[in-house]
Amino acid sequence: MEHVNIALLGMGRIGKIHFKNITQRFPRASVVAVADPQLDEAQFASQYGQGARFFRNPEEAIGHPQVNAVLICTPTSSHADLVEKAATAGKAIFCEKPLDLSLERTAALVDRTGETGVKLMLGFNRRFDPDFMQARQSVAAGKIGEVHIVKITSRDPGLPPIDYIKNSGGLFMDMAIHDFDMARYISGKKVVEVYAKGLVRHDPAVADAGDIDTALTTLVFEDGTCAVIDNSRKAVYGYDQRLEVFGSNGMIQVENNQHHRNIISDAAGIHHALPLDFFMDRYEKSYLKEIELFIDALLHNKEMPVSGSDGLQATLIATAAKLSMQKGEPVKLAGIEAGILESI
Ligand SMILES: NC(=O)c1ccc[n+]([C@@H]2O[C@H](COP(=O)([O-])OP(=O)(O)OC[C@H]3O[C@@H](n4cnc5c(N)ncnc54)[C@H](O)[C@@H]3O)[C@@H](O)[C@H]2O)c1
Repeated sequence: MEHVNIALLGMGRIGKIHFKNITQRFPRASVVAVADPQLDEAQFASQYGQGARFFRNPEEAIGHPQVNAVLICTPTSSHADLVEKAATAGKAIFCEKPLDLSLERTAALVDRTGETGVKLMLGFNRRFDPDFMQARQSVAAGKIGEVHIVKITSRDPGLPPIDYIKNSGGLFMDMAIHDFDMARYISGKKVVEVYAKGLVRHDPAVADAGDIDTALTTLVFEDGTCAVIDNSRKAVYGYDQRLEVFGSNGMIQVENNQHHRNIISDAAGIHHALPLDFFMDRYEKSYLKEIELFIDALLHNKEMPVSGSDGLQATLIATAAKLSMQKGEPVKLAGIEAGILESI
């Protein structure tokens, strides 16, 4: 491919980030079509200029003859149909997480993209955060020896609207799925068992919506070592994103990125700034890097850095976590995987 001509579907929180990055940063890629049913042509042009054709219907954007890649940034419930349509049209796909809330449909989508031969990348952007990438490189280079324990803390700064929670697929599928992917990425190991506990501590409306706002999940890797992940939808001090990898020869810690690095000491204590507010700021560089790598893989016919199968594994873990929470016992992934293979 000489130039990547993108149809961007969904101009919400994440779609706007990708639109800005692609239009400002990558000379060998352009957004040639955009679709969003909540905008019209005049609104789009006044906010984003005349560079891309605007459609309300995503199928028309996918079918635009110049388009050779589709970025799916729409609500999760629409991902699967749009992936199917883009794959059938033979266009490369970047899809935000998760591919779908149903494990069976996710597995079928990965198969379908395989059959059509289109390239598919999942938006697990945290892999491309400079600090997490550095940590992975250090683990892979053996700098801390054999990995024994991975600890991930991932807490949002505030509860999302209850309507969002109702359609999100739940904390494990919507939020912790990034951490499940991170545990696999950072350790380089396969997860075989999940044990999760979830509860509601912030707002009873979350329970009424059928979800949880607080969770602790243990993942068991194939060699018996573990990752421990804690999640909360609301940390009063801001977006809390930390990682620790402990090994036979040492430890790697990734701390929060703060608004500034000044440390003020006075009679009341020693103070530093709060963490960056939320994902748009904290993961700014990772969004840029993931799109750079997507474009690079298309221009140079390389493997995608996060595959459909990575998406399926994270969805499998999220499904197992929910089941484990409901049953109150550890769940082995092999049993669930066997069930999906029978269903497709
Ligand atoms: N990787 C990350 O860090 C990250 C962060 C936020 C959201 N996400 C994922 O991105 C997706 C979108 O989340 P968001 O927070 O940007 O949502 P959002 O609600 O802010 O935006 C979604 C946009 O898609 C539009 N839309 C709805 N249906 C559409 C369709 N069929 N075709 C085209 N446009 C359509 C809506 O009008 C809206 O503008 C979700 O799947 C979410 O899980 C990922």
